[in-house]
Amino acid sequence: MTPAEVRAALAAARRVAVLTGAGVSAESGIPTFRDAQTGHWARFRPEDLASPEAYWRDPELVWDWYAGRYRDVTAAQPNAAHLLLARLEREKGAGFFLATQNVDGLHGRAGSGTLGGTLAELHGNLTHARDEVTGEVYPLPPPDLLTVPPTSPAGNRMRPNVVWFGENLPADALAAAQDAFAAADVALVIGTSGAVYPAAGLAAWTLRRGGIVAEINPQVTDLTLHMTLSLRATAAEGLRALLG
Ligand code: APR
Repeated sequence: MTPAEVRAALAAARRVAVLTGAGVSAESGIPTFRDAQTGHWARFRPEDLASPEAYWRDPELVWDWYAGRYRDVTAAQPNAAHLLLARLEREKGAGFFLATQNVDGLHGRAGSGTLGGTLAELHGNLTHARDEVTGEVYPLPPPDLLTVPPTSPAGNRMRPNVVWFGENLPADALAAAQDAFAAADVALVIGTSGAVYPAAGLAAWTLRRGGIVAEINPQVTDLTLHMTLSLRATAAEGLRALLG
């Protein structure tokens, strides 16, 4: 399909599902997950920090890493891609579902999830922390007031409210995302390497039901050959091309 045909299908679609990855936040200055780690963290792989084993081994080290990312995302702003997806949600209303792998909270700050559609943060959100005993989730204080590891109102240590390697995604969010992609007339897969399942498998639910899936990514990914259309573009450029 040509971009013009996908644009027409998107305009006519009643149900639209979107999967985003770190690439949509790249233009907000947030390094993608597989960008080389910089500075002090250059000697670590994310997989060596974002895991239960790393946390139980050295909670302070893991919290120092998340506190730094929390400071960065708080200072960042949603970019044109986030805002274009918020506009699409406003147009589609309840027929719009955005599943993100990102934990930076930028979709929410752009208004996604409050404009008639649904936002599912499949891998959690690093602006919140979870009581290790009760499982209660609380927003973190502003970065300059954060002491790590944080303690919950119940007095228990809290862990970052994100899904780590080896952990399961929140079952209800994943089920809702699979239903949304299965029902979608058009799905968009934006700024993800498609390396991590089950998120990377969502597009297959749309294709299996005869829906259209368009990918937006400057690079070819593992998902590219399965796509109805794959645009070699940044998130904002590709969304502008498909939203008109
Ligand atoms: N616009 C769109 N895509 C971009 C841009 C951009 N400006 N810049 C980079 N990209 C693409 C890259 O080409 C790459 O395919 O974004 C993708 C980022 O891939 P990853 O770094 O692997 O991030 P992501 O796909 O979100 O990782 C998925 O893996 O590590 C786990 O839990 C972690 O949520 C993460 C998941």
